[in-house]
Amino acid sequence: MQKLIIQGGVPLHGEISISGAKNAALPLLCAALLTGESLKINNVPALHDITTMLSLLKQMGTTVSASGAGEVTLSAATLTHLVAPYEMVKTMRAAILVLGPMLARAGEAEISLPGGCAIGLRPVDLHIKGLQAMGADIHIRHGYIHAVAKKLHGARIVFDIVTVTGTENLMMAATLAEGTTILENAAREPEIIDLANCLKAMGAKIQGAGTDIITIEGVPSLHGAEHTVMPDRIETGTFLVAATATGGEIHLKNTDAHLLDAVLDKLTEAGARIDSNGNWINLKMHTKPKSVNVRTAPYPAFPTDMQAQFMSLNCIADGTAIITETIFENRLMHVQELKRMNASIEVEGNAAIVTGIAHLDGANVMATDLRASASLVIAGLIAQGETVIDRIYHLDRGYENIEGKLSALGAQIRRIQ
Ligand code: EPZ
Repeated sequence: MQKLIIQGGVPLHGEISISGAKNAALPLLCAALLTGESLKINNVPALHDITTMLSLLKQMGTTVSASGAGEVTLSAATLTHLVAPYEMVKTMRAAILVLGPMLARAGEAEISLPGGCAIGLRPVDLHIKGLQAMGADIHIRHGYIHAVAKKLHGARIVFDIVTVTGTENLMMAATLAEGTTILENAAREPEIIDLANCLKAMGAKIQGAGTDIITIEGVPSLHGAEHTVMPDRIETGTFLVAATATGGEIHLKNTDAHLLDAVLDKLTEAGARIDSNGNWINLKMHTKPKSVNVRTAPYPAFPTDMQAQFMSLNCIADGTAIITETIFENRLMHVQELKRMNASIEVEGNAAIVTGIAHLDGANVMATDLRASASLVIAGLIAQGETVIDRIYHLDRGYENIEGKLSALGAQIRRIQ
């Protein structure tokens, strides 16, 4: 089992480049299933989840050629194996994103029901309900979703909960359905706009992506295209929080400040000086951070994927903060690990009350999920002494070469077997 060892107390300085967004790249790779022609995706991040998705798509009959520079060309000319097995789905829930495209293109799919994960039950009932409204016949047997649809037809679907991958799955399915589909109370995340732009380049007719009403007019087929993955707004936010917590000054390239307004507002409130223009963001922090309250909600509000990182920042800020997690029912597990580092946090239901203290103590801690791992890295960067983080495979699912990028910013961090 690999571990990260961090010596805390070093302010971050320097410049790094942000990678392509994991949560945009995953649905974009699945979009290749919608056509028999080649789809070329650029700026694909080198992450474990991406590798898993590519092997799943290959197993289904997609040919995949990947260059070292994050360019992936996929061609699903013939889908030979319409199954997404448990072994793969259990390690990467985003595999559910092959369901909509498979039904639209091949008329059938057999996908292991994604189990829960550390942060919550993560049901996919809204994905299934939407596809049934579009004419799919779906049964769940022995932990697998068995879906058949001779030809999907358009439908008006109202999500009673805002779901990111639910919106993406149904948007992809609707591109080849007969007639028009309207998705209401749709998710508005930037990754959905990125996916819609790629689908439109493939010939899809989509309006309203990025708003809560998306209209898709089905077409008989889609053709190949080329698309570049948008920057990762959560990786961007994670490095900005790290620099705010350690103090210092960092410059992020190949990113976009407009993707994370709610996060930048909170960092400014904590005392950071932020400048940005086009594809870069500069952050300066030379004072002790002020405590900031955080309440997660669907985009464009404060993202749940940045909640754990702000928990670490608030541990050493001036004042007391309330952090409320409204999206997932169990996304406060980093609290126990931060308390091992002497953090002063009390949990009341889905809220954590964080009282800032002078410093955290380095300690042995354990990652429990992707963004909790990021919060422990930030805690290690600001703690006094050495922090050892175990189970960092969680981290590798969502951050490309995090210790390399942090070392480039001056952090004392290394990976050991
Ligand atoms: C996406 O997950 C992201 N993953 C998550 O990022 C992110 O935290 C989440 O959106 C919220 O922004 C990808 O895009 C691959 P949801 P998703 O469906 O789509 C409930 C990370 O760290 N719900 O928007 O699975 C659900 O339980 C990951 O990069 C249903 O009840 O999240 C949750 O409470 C973690 N039924 C809420 O909706 C459904 O059918 C939002 O979930 C679907 C969802």
